[in-house]
Amino acid sequence: MQDSFSRTARIAGIGGYLPDRILTNFDLERMVDTSDEWITKRTGIKERRVVADDESIVDLIDRAGKAAMQDAGVAPEEVDLFILATATVEQPIPATSAIAQPRLGVTQAACFDVSAACSGFVYALNVARQFIATGEAEKVLVVGAECLTRYLDWTDRSTCVLLGDGAGAVVLEPAKAGDGILRVDWRTDGNFAEMIYMPGGGCRIPPHSTKAIEERLPFIKMRGHETFKVAVRALEEISRSVLDKAGITVDDIDLFIPHQANIRIIKAVGARLSLPEEKVYTNVDRVGNTSSASIPLAMIDAIADGRLKRGDLVLSTAFGGGLTAASALIRY
Ligand code: ACO
Repeated sequence: MQDSFSRTARIAGIGGYLPDRILTNFDLERMVDTSDEWITKRTGIKERRVVADDESIVDLIDRAGKAAMQDAGVAPEEVDLFILATATVEQPIPATSAIAQPRLGVTQAACFDVSAACSGFVYALNVARQFIATGEAEKVLVVGAECLTRYLDWTDRSTCVLLGDGAGAVVLEPAKAGDGILRVDWRTDGNFAEMIYMPGGGCRIPPHSTKAIEERLPFIKMRGHETFKVAVRALEEISRSVLDKAGITVDDIDLFIPHQANIRIIKAVGARLSLPEEKVYTNVDRVGNTSSASIPLAMIDAIADGRLKRGDLVLSTAFGGGLTAASALIRY
């Protein structure tokens, strides 16, 4: 069963940006007590990107957003809504989307940020398609961007080997029902809020407090082993749920493009969904976990590799801090 809307949203254009600076596992061996062998075996990651000293998240958003608008053949002034998914804001006030707006040139667009960690891009897609389906927006720019390396504790080997920087963007425009984004399902379970989190730097423990500084609290922390188990279950459940709601079977899927967190999580979910390996896309070896940028960056690589073509049916599923989970069925 598809949505009751008479129209939905399709991806008219896609673009991304990765910073030039590459940090390999061998570089990390010189920084923390880890090894290329451990990282490769446990995560599948070989390298990740890190922003240059004079770059920040707005530079990533700018490059990815402009690339997507160019790919779609859409002028910035035509965009009437700009939604940014990020967990790594430029600064707390104002919203990072507002800071990025003038550089992108999307001067007619209402702008806001979505905070759903690694599920952020799929959450933002779901919000965007509702505005298009109801006729309140015609051209929506959705960007997933992260500067995770600016929020990493480079003495914590359990997180700093996993995450990387990057941005991916799409331009959505109206499509007839049955095309484009067919269905999205999303969930939040705040009981797991302290599984992937940053305990300091907000209202409870302000960034300038002695406690925050002395206890190294304004950094991303994660209970990795527990996250792994919860993630596999959440990814499988939300994927099955969106398929059921759309009346589509796993066999109909041309390509599964999951959030790129860890090759073992991706393989476990692919196997639980009975997806053959050739239908599961991964680029985690090249970029690491880029949170809300992960799915659009993987889509871009899948297109470049010839694995994703116009008309293909894609299942994209993510999980992240919150705990959030979201899954989208997209006729690309
Ligand atoms: N190098 C070497 N050893 C390490 C490293 C490292 N980088 N990190 C941890 N270890 C050690 C641990 O200290 C532990 O040692 P001990 O047995 O002496 O205590 C040992 O390795 C095993 O640790 P585990 O945490 O049990 O290892 P696991 O097999 O679970 O792998 C990992 C860890 C890779 C983090 C895995 O649990 C994982 O991928 N979890 C999911 C993470 C994730 O996807 N997060 C996504 C969200 S991020 C976001 O939303 C922004």
